[in-house]
Amino acid sequence: MPVHIVGWGKYVPERILTNDDLSRMVDTSDEWIVSRTGIRERRVASAEETTASMAVQAARRALEVAGLRPAQVELIIVATMTPDYVFPSTACLVQDALGASHAAAFDIGAGCSGFVYGLSVASNMIRSGAYANALVIGSETMSRVLDWTDRETCVLFGDGAGAVLLQAKDIEGGVLASMLGADGSGSEVLFIPAGGSRLPTSSETVAERLHYVTMKGREVYRFAVHAVPDATRSVLERAGQDVADVDMIIPHQANQRIMDASAKVLGISVDKIYSNLSAYGNTSAASIPIALCEAVERGLIQRDHLIVCVGFGGGLTWAAAAIRWTVRLPSEPISGWEALWYRVQYRYASFRSSMRRLLRAILAWWIKE
Ligand code: UT7
Repeated sequence: MPVHIVGWGKYVPERILTNDDLSRMVDTSDEWIVSRTGIRERRVASAEETTASMAVQAARRALEVAGLRPAQVELIIVATMTPDYVFPSTACLVQDALGASHAAAFDIGAGCSGFVYGLSVASNMIRSGAYANALVIGSETMSRVLDWTDRETCVLFGDGAGAVLLQAKDIEGGVLASMLGADGSGSEVLFIPAGGSRLPTSSETVAERLHYVTMKGREVYRFAVHAVPDATRSVLERAGQDVADVDMIIPHQANQRIMDASAKVLGISVDKIYSNLSAYGNTSAASIPIALCEAVERGLIQRDHLIVCVGFGGGLTWAAAAIRWTVRLPSEPISGWEALWYRVQYRYASFRSSMRRLLRAILAWWIKE
């Protein structure tokens, strides 16, 4: 059965950090950031917001577009490199907050390619018949892992979340093909050195600022300008389609120069490469679903369009998915009654979670007694 995107949603924090704001924090300028990257501003999460809380906001919107109840969701995959905890997975926190009481949940760690990895895994699990639907979410709180004194990294990234709901539907099209790639020899080109089993957290690792993103920018750049066109061509070949037939490419939003160079190599107009980098910066695994959601909302993706989502990032990893969009496109906003019904379900999810925690505490106390 073909697998289609039937719901989509995004969430970005309210707080905007401009290039001028950054120039007051580190030795940089709006001119340098815009000319080298294309980024003008990015969003930064508030103290209360986390990767899971933003993922939940995006997922709720995707469910509402799809008209699916949280309890009907069968699988939740969260792609992130900034999880709420080392464990449990952020996906489990999302499952609980959504009230997706029948869903399996796990995270995918594939750097900025994570969302496309998740899309591929979920669509193949649905195609196998094991699941009828899946929420695939990319969510990142990059602001919590950036060294705000390092101008080479802190100007690049931002926070946010995007989600899609995948469903098996007896309609031609949908996710036609996907391809995934990895090269771990480049693991130290873009990484957070400490906080894992290799370099556990200690006062030394904190003093040496090893819990922040470290990047060899030029190396990532050189890798990316090949990875994006190669992955795009490869997935189109698997889907039996041609580059000339592509209506829109939704690439990982890292650098406008990478997107322009990719358009040139692929021989397509740069207008076919969706970019919202200037407004959000690089939101890692969240960048593709946020961009996809925006492109749909702006009417740039139409019925029967062929689109390619293509990511690259830490690992090193790369991934692409070719999608023929044949299902319904932006529906009417949900009615007041429907919105109220969803709010009731979200309240119930929170009540259910509190009751389960209470029951667990009572059982623990009773067994001890
Ligand atoms: O999700 C994947 C994540 N990463 C990426 O996609 C990153 C890919 N790489 C890039 O986007 C680019 O390599 C960067 C934007 C990171 C850097 O651009 P670049 O044109 O490769 O600059 P560079 O690293 O070669 O640095 C040029 C100069 C250096 O000064 P010197 O040595 O020439 O005097 C840097 O120190 O620019 C300096 N520089 C800055 N100056 C002002 C580096 N960062 C800044 C800054 N403001 N923020």
